Amino acid sequence: AEKIILDCDPGHDDAVALLLAHGSPEIDLLAVTTVAGNQTVEKVTRNALAVARIAGIADVPFAAGAERPLIREVEVAESIHGESGLDGPELPEPVLALDERHAVDLIVDTVMAHGPGEVTLVPTGALTNIALAARKEPRIVERVKKVVLMGGGVHEGNWTPVAEFNIFIDPEAADVVFSAGWEVVMVGLDLTHQALATPEVARRIAEVGTGPAAFVGELLDFFGQTYRDAQGFDSPPVHDPCAVAHVIDPTVVRAVRMPIQVETSGARTLGMTVADRREEAPAGCRTSAALELDHARFWDLVVDALRRIGET
Ligand code: BDR
Ligand code: CA
Repeated sequence: AEKIILDCDPGHDDAVALLLAHGSPEIDLLAVTTVAGNQTVEKVTRNALAVARIAGIADVPFAAGAERPLIREVEVAESIHGESGLDGPELPEPVLALDERHAVDLIVDTVMAHGPGEVTLVPTGALTNIALAARKEPRIVERVKKVVLMGGGVHEGNWTPVAEFNIFIDPEAADVVFSAGWEVVMVGLDLTHQALATPEVARRIAEVGTGPAAFVGELLDFFGQTYRDAQGFDSPPVHDPCAVAHVIDPTVVRAVRMPIQVETSGARTLGMTVADRREEAPAGCRTSAALELDHARFWDLVVDALRRIGET
């Protein structure tokens, strides 16, 4: 199985990413870390622990991370994820205790405790913790297998005309991550706007018939409503599990190699992921962008994971 660290800001789609990772035999979830993004780090950390309880996750360390971006002020996504960051379903009181380490230390310790090329980082929020980890212990850059992140987009923005939320809220951190030299797979909006939770998808999830599946149904109801109101989608794009799906099976989330850099100073393009598609990627290019989703197989992965999780 692929060993991953999920660095997230739950967040409706982050919660689905966590369930997908936990319920998939192809994934060995080593650690879960949180970062300010969809809501404050206090809120998203509590949400992560609540999801852990719902999914029956007991033996994975969870650690809280950065409470603000490297340089900028906190900007949350209340219009999409609500006041709690995970509005909609009733959230249980967490039972899992947080790891005492800061997320950055848990990431560094976990990567360094494994062999070279063993651990994949899967960030589904702002890249603050990942950038800090790379600065604190630069040896992780060579040691991780790759970084498969949800964020950015080649042709699309959502928080601005050209920038995606996770990159926009901490563009300096994103710049550190994209230019570090490790393998980066950008699972951006070009891909995730194909991962729509259609009524058919909602029906398949409901059919699983368990508590965790009902929880996902309630998440998607709320998320569907805010995506209708705030961004005009008929069905909500469920971004974050697409990064996990790429790790499970890169033929479900297909990526193309291309140089990608983050805009950190544009007057109107702050946080844009600038992808160079003028010609074939040069030799040694270590960034790629996910462009094509197998929608049916992606949702099969999510439904199968929920079936495996069962009743907890
Ligand atoms: C990303 O922003 C967050 O609101 C979602 O959880 C996802 O990670 C989509 O732009
Ligand atoms: Ca997220």
